[in-house]
Amino acid sequence: MATTAVAPAKATSVFADVPEAPADPILGLNSAFLADEAPNKISLGVGAFRTDEGKPYVLPVVKRVEQQLAADPATNHEYLPIDGLPAFQKLSAELILGKDSKAMKDGRVVTIQALSGTGALRVGITFLGRFLRTSGSPPAVYIPTPTWSNHRNIVPDAGLGAARTYRYLDAVSGGVDLPSMLADLSDAPAGSVIVLHGCAHNPTGADPSPAQWADILAVVQSRRLIPFFDNAYQGFASGDLDADAASVRLFADAGIDMVLSQSFAKNMGLYGQRIGALSVVLAEGTPDVATAAKAVRSQLKAVVRPMYSSPPAHGARIAVGVLGDEANYAEWKKELAGMAGRIGDMRTALKAALDSNGTPGDWSRIVNQIGMFSYTGLSAQQVAHLRNKHHIYMTSNGRISMAGLTTSTVQRVADAMKDAVETVVKQDPSSSGVKSRL
Ligand code: LMR
Repeated sequence: MATTAVAPAKATSVFADVPEAPADPILGLNSAFLADEAPNKISLGVGAFRTDEGKPYVLPVVKRVEQQLAADPATNHEYLPIDGLPAFQKLSAELILGKDSKAMKDGRVVTIQALSGTGALRVGITFLGRFLRTSGSPPAVYIPTPTWSNHRNIVPDAGLGAARTYRYLDAVSGGVDLPSMLADLSDAPAGSVIVLHGCAHNPTGADPSPAQWADILAVVQSRRLIPFFDNAYQGFASGDLDADAASVRLFADAGIDMVLSQSFAKNMGLYGQRIGALSVVLAEGTPDVATAAKAVRSQLKAVVRPMYSSPPAHGARIAVGVLGDEANYAEWKKELAGMAGRIGDMRTALKAALDSNGTPGDWSRIVNQIGMFSYTGLSAQQVAHLRNKHHIYMTSNGRISMAGLTTSTVQRVADAMKDAVETVVKQDPSSSGVKSRL
């Protein structure tokens, strides 16, 4: 008997009810910018260096090293070891700790290559959750308010629960609120991990002075806290690699346990190559340092292997070509100073344009802040106005990536900011507009 073929019922996907995650406040903004069809749109969102023509920048020294790598018949695409390229580990640690680092000479520094700063933070926090136990529980992790938004994701994703916060910014002056910061750190339980921005604090651009760093170190030591320095902007704050590492070196010289993440995204322009490093520095009194260091490295590798197996080779080889060659290193330092200088010029130009067009408020913080960002004090509503009316994109906390400005766009941005400050304050007096916040 003939049978009629019946198409099987189509089942609803088991993923049909997956709720949509909120867009990332920084990278999601970049997607919105790319989708905007306005010809005069301006991106001041993601922290990525741009030339004065508004173009991405491949450092000439990086380009040359890449060409040499491509021409070298020995270059291949084999796996790197789980902990990355050994030469890269050494050169990265020397860059942040200094060539004459006592901790390195003592063999107290364990460095692995990581997937840029984010990857280093993620592996480092996971490692701390496994081995830094306070009364049997993972440590509390403290991050500043405000901070880079991804810090808030990394800590719970590493299984340590929600990050706790310490106060950092003085909203009135735009500088560091040291008394509040020290008070909050003093209240942290012994053994807590304290995330510190080594320099060029993201998003505020407000860094502690050398004397303030010494005060922070004193609390860290007396409370037996574990500093975790996030170094994403070495060279971008002052244009000088050593000056920007001063905070980390001060703490390292104290001989305490500490953890460091490094990124070569900004200072070498290797954003998409995902090149960074994670270092665990062991305290000076550790009796059998060699054994402890070997064990720490083995456990870092045990975190990495099931997560992404091993890190990418190409960017690490570029970094080695730049850091490990005297002439290339000297050239890089000049290019770095040039990038920091352009950012400084944009600070001066934006402040001057805001002052000369009579934008209400005191804009001196734009030139007082340091690094890639300026924390303008613009409210979320004013930021939305800039985006909707002027097609100018910045994060909703009012952070501007200064490298997104160019000589030819700075006046338009200043005029749009003036419009936002005046219009949004008038339309919505309850908003925390610039007038009341600066
Ligand atoms: C930023 O803060 O804009 C950068 O660090 C990019 C990122 O990954 O968030």
